Amino acid sequence: MRKLNFEVLTLFPGLIEGPLNESILKRGREKGLLNVTVRNIRDYTGDKHRTADDSPYGGGAGMVLKPEPIFRAFEALKAEHPGEELLSILLSPQGRIFDQKRAEGLSGEKRRIVLLCGHYEAIDERVIGSLIDEELSIGDYVLTGGEIAALVVIDAAARLLPGVLGDEESAYRDSFGEGLLDHPHYTRPAEFRGMRVPDVLLGGNHAEIEKWRRREALRATLIKRPDLLETADLMDEDRKILEELKREIRNPNI
Ligand code: ADE
Repeated sequence: MRKLNFEVLTLFPGLIEGPLNESILKRGREKGLLNVTVRNIRDYTGDKHRTADDSPYGGGAGMVLKPEPIFRAFEALKAEHPGEELLSILLSPQGRIFDQKRAEGLSGEKRRIVLLCGHYEAIDERVIGSLIDEELSIGDYVLTGGEIAALVVIDAAARLLPGVLGDEESAYRDSFGEGLLDHPHYTRPAEFRGMRVPDVLLGGNHAEIEKWRRREALRATLIKRPDLLETADLMDEDRKILEELKREIRNPNI
């Protein structure tokens, strides 16, 4: 049975715990497929004020996360899992952009994955130099901390583990898998306020339905995310359809 072990190091455990106790992630944990230990970095401080940050050497605004509690947290988790290999990831806006490919890679990861969430302005560089294997960003914007980014990474990787999604949910698994956006979806009623479901979906011709879905996935990608077409897994037939769609978009009357 494939499973994932995460350790999240954070100053705000409450930000992480809520989403892990809902819906699919909760079920994945209950099934033993997803294990997440959340550790409060403050529990590894050594002073009575539980100080986790300090002002930067060289001056300037903002605070810097101190190295000692983070090193201690790593030592504690290693001691609890002797001999286990670690993959340690820092969530930060300076990281490589997290995408579906990286999510797939992480979903097959055998090592215990440590997600270190930065907060405030920065983390002491000695942590990054000695403890961190990889830096990941979830997009080119700045969050208040790495916690929400860590949840994004856990969620995207965990849903790819066999058994985490139910059968019905797995149908959605491949919407990005071939590098295309998903096709449109409809459910009952067949006509709603004058808007009709496309006829092809109402008939039972599965080959026609698949053709329609592929065409509409190509159309959605062409309109909303044409950049994805450069790396998508396309067949000759797809390229022909794309040319037709481009003509259709240029000249909507054909
Ligand atoms: N921490 C702050 N902003 C972030 C981002 N965009 N991705 C990951 N971690 C972050």
